[in-house]
Amino acid sequence: MDEYEVTARFNIAETCATSISIDDVCTWAGVGPGAIFPPSRRLVYGSIRGSDALRKNLAAIYNNDSNNNNSATPVSGRGLLKENNFLITNGAIGANFAVFYSLIGKGDHVICHHPTYQQLYSVPKSLGARVDLWRTSAEDGWELDLDQLKKMIRSETKMVVLNNPQNPTGKVITKSVFESVIEIAREHGLYVFVDEVYRPLFHGILPSDPEYPPPAVHWDYDRIVSTGSMSKAYSLAGIRVGWIVSRSLEIVEACAEARDYTMISVSQLDDQLATIAMGSDCNQKIIERNIKLAQKNLAILDDFVQNHVGKCEYVKSRAGTTAFIRFFRDGKPVDDVAFCKAAHAYGAFMVPGNHCFADGADFRGYVRIGYVCATEELEAGLKALEDFIQKEYESLPLAV
Ligand SMILES: Cc1ncc(COP(=O)(O)O)c(C=O)c1O
Repeated sequence: MDEYEVTARFNIAETCATSISIDDVCTWAGVGPGAIFPPSRRLVYGSIRGSDALRKNLAAIYNNDSNNNNSATPVSGRGLLKENNFLITNGAIGANFAVFYSLIGKGDHVICHHPTYQQLYSVPKSLGARVDLWRTSAEDGWELDLDQLKKMIRSETKMVVLNNPQNPTGKVITKSVFESVIEIAREHGLYVFVDEVYRPLFHGILPSDPEYPPPAVHWDYDRIVSTGSMSKAYSLAGIRVGWIVSRSLEIVEACAEARDYTMISVSQLDDQLATIAMGSDCNQKIIERNIKLAQKNLAILDDFVQNHVGKCEYVKSRAGTTAFIRFFRDGKPVDDVAFCKAAHAYGAFMVPGNHCFADGADFRGYVRIGYVCATEELEAGLKALEDFIQKEYESLPLAV
């Protein structure tokens, strides 16, 4: 991403739902730009854990989301989440790091959902843990195999890491599967850590669906912790705001201590903008806009895939912003890096899937596309991709 993003003509690798501006936030929240941060206000560190106002807004969103589905499972016995269940961080990347740094150490065993964002298995490894990847495959619809999880648990296992919705596949861990993972974890006293940065961008499953997954902290189990972010579903990656949430104040305290080593507070400007964006009027407008955009763009991407049967295939995404598509020729996978480099020269920037996500799995031929960019950008990117396929696909090297 680093190497090619700045020179990309059509960035269809982007994982953020197309970004919005301060003006957009002000319009949707019904406030003037002065409300974001009065120029006369002194620039102090502010609240160390994140402003009460931001954390209250987050608590309201989670409580509402938790009650959203027609679930038979009651919301946690301990009732509603409050601001002290949240800790604000520099993006979800900072949140994820703090969770691992607080809870994982040398000799621990961690089981991590795969494929996923590399940080989720590389950081625990760097802290001295043994990490085993809980692999999923397109043949099984990227479904988690619960029997496999049971077999992977050892006496040193400390944590199961999930990513829901999942990057890069757009897979949703459904409510019943989620619940089963938590039950297995509870039996063995394991932490369940869920990276939920793409939440609540569910565009292929409705909250009224019995399998719509509530947020991880919906369940009443002390060892659940999850992370979220303004970057993806809320289109505000430019403010570096993420969070950690847990019903366990012990976990929140442990993460607060770990976080003390890398940050004091987030920028007060960022905190204030996030607070306004996460207010009840604005956050719903952002999500409605992004769900509509995702549905519209996924239909365009799906047309592309259907028009190229015999060259590519995928398990259609149901949530988040990414699709993991396998390209092949005469039934054999193409070289994903050569494919992406050549397509980039035509203007279509995508991420090579085997190169970036395999870690021992066979993702030859896979390419990750971020389709919740502006519709015009997706259309232009797919047109460039089409052009490249017409002219160069037959001479592209196959994967070895
Ligand atoms: C699964 C996942 N987690 C965390 C992050 C980090 O997001 P941020 O730090 O912008 O909140 C990303 C970014 O791509 C991601 O895909």
